[in-house]
Amino acid sequence: MKLSGKVALITGSGSGIGKAAALLFAKEGASIAVSDINLSSAEQATEAIKQLGGRAIAIRADVSDAGDVDMMVDKVIKELGGIHILVNNAGIPGENLPTIESSVEHWDKVVRVNLRGTYLCSRRSGQWMVSNKAGKVLNIASIVGLAGFVARASYGPAKAGIVNLTQTLAVEWAKYNINVNCIAPGFVMTPLDGDLIRSGRLNLELIEKRIPLGHRAQPDDIAKAALFLVSDDARYITGVTLPVDGGWLAYGDVCAK
Ligand SMILES: NC(=O)c1ccc[n+]([C@@H]2O[C@H](COP(=O)([O-])OP(=O)(O)OC[C@H]3O[C@@H](n4cnc5c(N)ncnc54)[C@H](O)[C@@H]3O)[C@@H](O)[C@H]2O)c1
Repeated sequence: MKLSGKVALITGSGSGIGKAAALLFAKEGASIAVSDINLSSAEQATEAIKQLGGRAIAIRADVSDAGDVDMMVDKVIKELGGIHILVNNAGIPGENLPTIESSVEHWDKVVRVNLRGTYLCSRRSGQWMVSNKAGKVLNIASIVGLAGFVARASYGPAKAGIVNLTQTLAVEWAKYNINVNCIAPGFVMTPLDGDLIRSGRLNLELIEKRIPLGHRAQPDDIAKAALFLVSDDARYITGVTLPVDGGWLAYGDVCAK
């Protein structure tokens, strides 16, 4: 098992990618703090881990609220004994409107949850990791933060900020034996984009045609890359952003068959 004896705090792990990572890390021997703004989904994921014979606790916390983040980290340290792994996964999508029609309120909310949330959780968990001279931080950004996407003026810049925060913390904390890395998923089959797809603001057919591997990712595809990056197999990797996108960013051809 790759994570025996480790404690992993995964934000937003009541659903989607975070939940898949929580289940996979638990199978690899980690104790899991399942944290989410939605307590009942966190409790359900915790129950699923316990049914696999794993150890887990559920915590309700809003990652954009500094008080919630302090409470969450204190609880993990008290009940599970430390924080060896932090996955900053909690996130919300943008509203996918043309920028001139978008709202400032939505910008603030998307940046607060995605970017400020990642900063707050890293800062507070980093205090434990720095004093223990060990840790793995994994951030979840998006391919939308690595290129220009139409109508993504809040989500894209928030995710791009996470890519730079990854580099900043990686170089600042390297001397404390803390690895900080990031995954940029492409399009993943989770509830995240459900409203955008239902309202026609995202066109699934066009998206799948544009992915070289021909289909969206399953949450587990991202979780498996996450396991690698938080394990000792990746001990010499820090400060990188790994696209897990079915070849989306590599694709430059719209002409040939
Ligand atoms: N699904 C995709 O196509 C895709 C693509 C690229 C990046 N991502 C990123 O992956 C991460 C996980 O998304 P997902 O697709 O699994 O979505 P999801 O909606 O299934 O899960 C996100 C979870 O985050 C929780 N959450 C939302 N706001 C929160 C807050 N303020 N505090 C704590 N928890 C909060 C939600 O309750 C939910 O359980 C997000 O950061 C998202 O931006 C997703």
